[in-house]
Amino acid sequence: MATPAETETRPLLDTLTAIRTRRSIKQYSPAPIPKEWVMELLDAAHWAPNHYLTHPWRFRVFTGEGRERLVDARYQASVFGFQQKGETVPDNAYDLARTKCYSAPVIIIVSMITNEDPTIDRENYAACWVAIQNLLLAGTARGLGTYPSTGDWIDHNFVGPGCGLGENERPVACVFVGYSDQETTGKRLPVERFTTWYETAPQGRE
Ligand SMILES: Cc1cc2nc3c(=O)[nH]c(=O)nc-3n(C[C@H](O)[C@H](O)[C@H](O)COP(=O)(O)O)c2cc1C
Repeated sequence: MATPAETETRPLLDTLTAIRTRRSIKQYSPAPIPKEWVMELLDAAHWAPNHYLTHPWRFRVFTGEGRERLVDARYQASVFGFQQKGETVPDNAYDLARTKCYSAPVIIIVSMITNEDPTIDRENYAACWVAIQNLLLAGTARGLGTYPSTGDWIDHNFVGPGCGLGENERPVACVFVGYSDQETTGKRLPVERFTTWYETAPQGRE
C-alpha cells in the first residue's frame, strides 16, 4: 500500500501532455503497483463514452502469482502462431510465454460483452478501445508505463478459458502496466496530412 506521502508525490500530468508523451512500453520494473492505483486507472477507463450506457467492458487484473493463470493461454497462442507459419515450436516456448506474462507487474485483460446486433456490437467494441485509451492516458499521467496488445491470444480467444470469459464475452486487448525507465521516442507524421477542411458550401449551394 502506498503511504499518503508517496501518494502526494505521485505525478499528475495534464491531459494533452499525457496524450503526447504516452508511449507503448515493453520493459518494466517488477515493482508492484498498489491496488488503489490500478483501480484509479480502471475508473478512468470506466468513464469512457459508451452508447446507450452499455458498460460493455470487463476488466480482469492479474498481478503477482495471479499472472501464472495467463501463461497457458500465451503458450497455446504461441504454438498456434508457429503452426500457422509452418514453423517448429521452439523448446523454450513455454518459458518465453511465462516470461511475457511476468514482464509487467500488472496485466489487465479487457474483454467486452458481445451483442447480437452488429451495430451495437461494433459500438461496444469501439467503446472498449476508448476505455483502454483512457486507461493508458491515466497511467501516463500517473508516471506509469503501459501498452496495449492484441495478437493471437486475444484475437483467437486463447485467454478465454483461463480467464473465465463467458460465452457472451470476447477479449479486446491485454494491457501491460508498470513502472519503467525505458527510453522512448514518439513517432507520428504531421496530422495535416490526414486532415481535410471544408470551409465553403459545395458549388451551386453558395
Ligand atoms: C489495436 C492495437 C493493438 C496493438 N497490439 C499490439 C501488439 O499486439 N503488440 C505490440 O507490441 N504493440 C501493440 N500495439 C501498440 C502499437 O504497436 C503502438 O501503439 C504503436 O507502435 C505506436 O507506438 P506508441 O504507442 O508508443 O505511440 C497495439 C496498439 C493498438 C491500438
